[in-house]
Amino acid sequence: MTTDQAAPTEPPTAPVSHAHELEIVEVVAETDDAVSIVLDVPDRTASKFRYRPGQFLTVKIPTERRCGAARSYSLSSSPHFETDLVITVKRTPGGYASNWLCDHAQPGASLTVLTPSGHFTPPSLDNDILLIGAGSGITPLMSIAKSVLIGGSGTVYLLYANRDAPSTIFGRELAAMLAEFPTRFVVEHWFEDEHGLPTATGMAASLELFSTYDAFLCGPAPFMAVAREALARIGMPDGHITVERYRSLAGDPFADVVVVAPADGEDTATVTVGLDGRKVELVWPRQTTLLDLLLSHGYDAPYSCREGECSSCACTVTSGEVTMLKNDTLVDADLRAGVTLACQAVPVSDEVAIEFDQ
Ligand SMILES: Cc1cc2nc3c(=O)[nH]c(=O)nc-3n(C[C@H](O)[C@H](O)[C@H](O)COP(=O)(O)OP(=O)(O)OC[C@H]3O[C@@H](n4cnc5c(N)ncnc54)[C@H](O)[C@@H]3O)c2cc1C
Ligand code: FES
Repeated sequence: MTTDQAAPTEPPTAPVSHAHELEIVEVVAETDDAVSIVLDVPDRTASKFRYRPGQFLTVKIPTERRCGAARSYSLSSSPHFETDLVITVKRTPGGYASNWLCDHAQPGASLTVLTPSGHFTPPSLDNDILLIGAGSGITPLMSIAKSVLIGGSGTVYLLYANRDAPSTIFGRELAAMLAEFPTRFVVEHWFEDEHGLPTATGMAASLELFSTYDAFLCGPAPFMAVAREALARIGMPDGHITVERYRSLAGDPFADVVVVAPADGEDTATVTVGLDGRKVELVWPRQTTLLDLLLSHGYDAPYSCREGECSSCACTVTSGEVTMLKNDTLVDADLRAGVTLACQAVPVSDEVAIEFDQ
């Protein structure tokens, strides 16, 4: 057991950051308004960029704003046979980051990114998988589909909605996958110019044979609501459904870590943290989040958004009590199990024990 004791007033030493510069090696125009950006991972950081199909990178976007812009983009590449990382970005009308990337990303330039993160990943590549996506929602689904087909033995059914055929990202690649895996891969395209907007009745009719599959949903909110209704109609249990919600980060996960020193006379808590197979004991100023405390002391705790929205920093309180400044992701069952978000957790009790490795 390793025990580190730090005084509350001790300045942060060697703070940890997950930010890395990756060189863009290729930019592929997928449609009129979407590009894939291929990023090279140097050997020295390869271990930091291991990822699971369906995970995302968080990208720093240059901006004049004091609080920088950061956006998450799912990896469309498969960790099972592609060595470069690929993100696929579709222009959002009036959007800042997506248009900046589509206009400025070019080979030879670099992007600052955080290491891969996210829970939108299949438990096994040998399970049968139902993928339901619309527009740029195909990105993580593509990574999952390729990984199951090439790295596993499951079958994959993809229902993919788009405005029309020309706006379909990965149209050619999907056709090639269909030819390569004719017995394990099925794609149903839903083009709005032919069938109108997707309806729960229409989708349920297509999906009724797949109620025992593991379902993964990604697309605009109204599309996801219709897809959820269709899955309810075919009797798919909620526990089989995993959802990825696209939204823009409001804060800056690339910002420096700030540890708030306790005011004169203010007491502190003590926290014991299980992380990467070791135990760490730290003095915990009451205004500092657990994530900032750990990073400032050089401990490589997981994170992505740093604003309570992605659950990358989820950990379990095994004794004592914390409160979260904000929580947009954990549900009641998580809270009952003691799960908390390190980026939002501050201490309530004097002594707290937390495990990341459960
Ligand atoms: C886990 C995850 C994975 C993702 N993966 C992908 C992916 O693979 N591909 C992809 O393309 N996207 C993906 N996204 C979405 C992506 O992160 C961005 O949200 C998206 O690119 C839009 O960002 P933007 O900066 O272009 O738009 P923003 O500038 O954030 O604007 C978004 C919308 O809000 C409007 N808006 C902005 N500011 C205001 C304001 N002040 N008042 C009113 N309206 C306003 C804009 O006009 C626009 O319509 C993902 C998101 C998450 C969370
Ligand atoms: S880092 Fe995203 S919720 Fe904490």
